[in-house]
Amino acid sequence: MVTDRVEICLRPAEAEDLSQIVHLDRLAFAPLKSNAEVEQEWYAHGINPEGRQQFIAVDQRTGLGVGTYTELQLSVFLEGQELPAKGFAGVAVALERRGQGVGRWMLEQSLRDLQQQQIPLAILYPFQHGFYRQLGWAWVGRVHQYTVASHHLPSYPERCHIAAYDPTQHQIALTNAYHHAACQHNGWLRRQDWQWRSRLKPCPGREIYCYLEGGQILGYVILQYTLLDTLSQPALSLVIQEWVALNGDAYRGILGFLSTLKDQVSTLVWNTYPEDSFPYLLREQRCDPGLRQTVEFFGLTHRFGEIGAGFMWRLIDVATAFRLRPVRPGDSFLLTFEITDPVLGDQTLTANFATGRMHPVSQRSPGVLKTSIAHLTEMYCGLRRASELVWTKEVEWTGDPSLLTKLDTAWEATPPFCWDAF
Ligand SMILES: CC(C)(COP(=O)(O)OP(=O)(O)OC[C@H]1O[C@@H](n2cnc3c(N)ncnc32)[C@H](O)[C@@H]1OP(=O)(O)O)[C@@H](O)C(=O)NCCC(=O)NCCS
Repeated sequence: MVTDRVEICLRPAEAEDLSQIVHLDRLAFAPLKSNAEVEQEWYAHGINPEGRQQFIAVDQRTGLGVGTYTELQLSVFLEGQELPAKGFAGVAVALERRGQGVGRWMLEQSLRDLQQQQIPLAILYPFQHGFYRQLGWAWVGRVHQYTVASHHLPSYPERCHIAAYDPTQHQIALTNAYHHAACQHNGWLRRQDWQWRSRLKPCPGREIYCYLEGGQILGYVILQYTLLDTLSQPALSLVIQEWVALNGDAYRGILGFLSTLKDQVSTLVWNTYPEDSFPYLLREQRCDPGLRQTVEFFGLTHRFGEIGAGFMWRLIDVATAFRLRPVRPGDSFLLTFEITDPVLGDQTLTANFATGRMHPVSQRSPGVLKTSIAHLTEMYCGLRRASELVWTKEVEWTGDPSLLTKLDTAWEATPPFCWDAF
């Protein structure tokens, strides 16, 4: 069914739209709460607080809001380069207008607008990957989550360098430590003050500990206490919300410190990126055996962890994205990309890979990669190699196979990970 979109106007929201937006958000995300509760919890700082822009789609015949979403102003690190990005959050459509293409239409309008602004990248955490994939997003954010017994953690001696976070003394040094790590990790955000305020805000059950050497913060961990279901009664457990270690000592210090909590905390939920050494350092490679587990693992292996299907990325202005992304040094080569894009239109772009960068050029290359924008995003961020996608026939290649190998090498990167959810 197609909405008569001529009647709908999508525009940046203003203070007077607050009650309509609260109403849309409540019905989409918290239908058991009251409008007043949603307003107080989510909009205490107004409709467009720093770093966020709310949009509203209004049916001009009735003046009623039929959809809303938030755009976040982000900046993401990739291979040491900062990419300007927009985050999408809180996409919501009025109950009576669902399934009429309003959600899709709002996102299409926004993507077109962002393309005009030459924004290279959009990021979001999907409610369903399929909905956003049809609009060109690709799932790229994997989280590994190990739920382990705290007595299986290694008790490294570096733990004695851990101190409780004191905002009056440590705040700047902690944010600097994060920034230092973020520049070297793909997908991490350059955090602005507004993001730090919510990250470091005191919350019930949240604690922060720092690793200090010579008065310098070289790492920290943000912990959230919770209760997990065990075979007997709910047991106090810790969920790691974020950890940063600038060297191996800080990393060992954090793990050693957590191991000392074993008398009080039975289980640790360690969230991390797939390349982390954590699983190799444990005394046992298995989930906490004391936890109530619903499904047995198949075969002679222990259940050890879970993979979270996290955020999605979407390239928007491909030429800007190409110009910004550093590539691994190697022989220079030309490659033509024929890109299908369900929203922004198909395009052909030839890139000259030279001197650690990609430069768009006008001549075509004999090596042509036919790809959707979603698959291009997967390759661009280092998640999947072009040769792998050709093998599964998700993308199509014509030309000398050695060029494809060159592309694999040029775009080799650790896939993105991000501590910030929105
Ligand atoms: C999610 C939501 C915003 C979608 O808005 P909507 O206006 O109902 O969606 P649309 O009508 O634009 O749907 C567009 C298309 O996506 C399709 N679609 C939905 N989920 C899909 C999926 N998982 N995979 C593939 N296609 C999907 C629909 O079938 C529809 O296609 P069709 O018109 O060809 O049938 C709306 O349902 C909502 O407000 N949900 C509650 C809040 C929420 O979960 N928000 C998402 C936060 S990330």
